[in-house]
Amino acid sequence: MAPLGVALAGLGTVGAGVFALLRDRAETLAERAGRPIRVVAVSARDRTRDRGLDLDGVAWFDDAAEMARDADADIFVELIGGEDGIAKAACEAALDAGRDVVTANKALLARHGTRLARLAEETGRTLGFEAAVAGGIPIVKALREGLAANRISAIYGILNGTCNYILTQMRETGRPFDEVLADAQALGYAEADPAFDIDGIDAAHKLAILTALGFGTEIDFDGVHVEGIRHVSADDIVFAEELGYRIKLLGIARRTAHGIEQRVHPCMIPQAAPLARVEGVFNAVVAEGDSVGTTVFEGRGAGAGPTASAVVADIVDLARGLRLPVFAAPAAGLAPAGTAAMERHAGPYYLRLVVVDRPGVIADVAAALRDEQISMESMIQRGRAPGEAVPVVLTTHETEEAAMTRALARIETLGSVVQAPRMIRIESLVS
Ligand code: HSE
Repeated sequence: MAPLGVALAGLGTVGAGVFALLRDRAETLAERAGRPIRVVAVSARDRTRDRGLDLDGVAWFDDAAEMARDADADIFVELIGGEDGIAKAACEAALDAGRDVVTANKALLARHGTRLARLAEETGRTLGFEAAVAGGIPIVKALREGLAANRISAIYGILNGTCNYILTQMRETGRPFDEVLADAQALGYAEADPAFDIDGIDAAHKLAILTALGFGTEIDFDGVHVEGIRHVSADDIVFAEELGYRIKLLGIARRTAHGIEQRVHPCMIPQAAPLARVEGVFNAVVAEGDSVGTTVFEGRGAGAGPTASAVVADIVDLARGLRLPVFAAPAAGLAPAGTAAMERHAGPYYLRLVVVDRPGVIADVAAALRDEQISMESMIQRGRAPGEAVPVVLTTHETEEAAMTRALARIETLGSVVQAPRMIRIESLVS
């Protein structure tokens, strides 16, 4: 059979990894795909840079969109990144030109995925994005194919390796967030501008994509409630351990009576939960279906090898002629997202306050909770320092977010509360 010609845009860590994997495993891949796979064209920013790749006989394009349109290739692989600009223009150009697209670009899909899926289907093509969510874990394939028989009730998981690494290190070493972040940057785990990772945006991109895939809806990135891990303190980590929890940044999409919740924030999860044992840079995704029950997928969510593994899997599918609807159902039939408002979320909460140690302080805090019908589950006060600031930790029974928000606003105004209260949602992870 004729080889599948690949035009590859972006020769950074992932792009070079894909190029090397296609070269090193060419024979096996040809056997599995039923035809050889050849990189016939590449595009990157700097032609002169030595990447240790033999580009002899491979057409070079300075402009990725021009390559997407004009290269003598069957498929276009976008590994440039960025939600707009050249990545978007090149993917659109490839689809317009009747080429299938493979991308690892979660920001692009979170912003424009529904429209790109429609464009792909109008032109009789498809868009592969296994690498965009949880790196090497084949969760897209699992949701689109392996779990196709199920009505999905929840998808949640650890979707950002940098945050998981930071939280793991904070717990294991007792060191504060800023120090551990600096280490993560030095080790090359976090981006030089780590905001996308630690403020939860990267995880939110991935969650928005998983929601569309699992629930058959249009992507609603703006509907995702997003909080990062900047405010998680070494104290919170110690208190979590004492209460039988572990703190993880989770992305959670769940069907509720008010719509589909989509939220990314630090969570306290039971130490016995499978996700609690996922440590360091690893990712994990749990999908719950009505027929299958609970399934758990774990693996490396970033890096050249795992990401290239996912990109090449999509390329092999296209070489085999497997062309499935982008978000599991035809794009024209995706339902509106119907994201539930965060105020309607209900669950138990952990609160950490710093209060002046004097009689009546706890009574004032308890009154603020009582007036919102919030029931306390436990309370820990550390130390005894009359007239000085001490930490107090409370956990509550299930309550609505709106009530908790009002109670926190009132607690913050109390004269004896000396720092803004910190709140972390508790997730039992039981359906
Ligand atoms: N920066 C991401 C992470 C990897 O730390 O998980 C790519 O999405």
